[in-house]
Amino acid sequence: MKIIVGPASNGLGEKICSLTDLEKVRLSFKQFPDGEVYVRLLDDVNRVDALIIQSLSPPQDRNLMLLLQLISAFKTNGGGEASVVIPYMAYARQDKMFMKGEPVSAHLVARLIEAAGADRVALVEVHSDIAAQGFRNGILIEVTKTFAEHYLRIGFEKAYVVAPDKNATPRAKRLADMIGGGVGWVEKTRDKETGFVSSTEGELNPAGRKTILIDDIISTGGTIVEAIKLLKGKGAFQISVACIHGIFVGDAYERIMDTGASSILSSDTVETRYSNISVADDIVKTLRENDWL
Ligand code: R5P
Repeated sequence: MKIIVGPASNGLGEKICSLTDLEKVRLSFKQFPDGEVYVRLLDDVNRVDALIIQSLSPPQDRNLMLLLQLISAFKTNGGGEASVVIPYMAYARQDKMFMKGEPVSAHLVARLIEAAGADRVALVEVHSDIAAQGFRNGILIEVTKTFAEHYLRIGFEKAYVVAPDKNATPRAKRLADMIGGGVGWVEKTRDKETGFVSSTEGELNPAGRKTILIDDIISTGGTIVEAIKLLKGKGAFQISVACIHGIFVGDAYERIMDTGASSILSSDTVETRYSNISVADDIVKTLRENDWL
């Protein structure tokens, strides 16, 4: 098996290469003057299976198109089984028709990836099970253990773990169980038209406690900022923010820090200058457990 590392996952792909000894397929990319993107595999892939890794991080549409072309180039050139790892699955939040007239974009993206030739797909902490169900042959990669190990290393044993939205409570609970802490949640509502977030206390008891506020995605930071305000109002002692997929639109990172976070942990599923923890081990471990490697 060889590995094809897409440009949105260069850092993570390198780490996976060094953990697995997979041989990397050399690639070339270019962009035409009108904006279209081009990829070419520089090594022979005839009768070879491949692990193809590419995040759908911003710019999402371009990175999706690059992934589709990488898969298609592999198959068109005689490649065998295409096992695709998607560290961050874009459009996963549009996993149903919230308002009449909308598409289910998560399932559309899944169909495109399968139509390009993906035989099986591994998704890292995808936003919802419904989004993942768009793939006929998919597995889920969970990374809470890596986050828990980090928090245990930096003295957050028994910290209070908070989900900034009731739907995000299962992840918070998994982390709380691993570090021996309690769990709470914020009640969040988002205006479907404007996207404006307002949060009220759900179940919160952070007074005097080290607190970890964890969500799957940070985009504009609005969700986390609202939750920090509530936690501070209830006397949380130290608030560390964690997300799997840190997109940090505009000055989101700075706004979160200015609101009172002591630190922000975000993984390399979305590679930005703020990524400070890697999920490479979790990916390799899950792929091995599922006999992909
Ligand atoms: C939404 O359901 C997600 O889990 C995140 O809470 C959301 O995407 C965060 O977005 P923002 O940072 O823009 O509030």
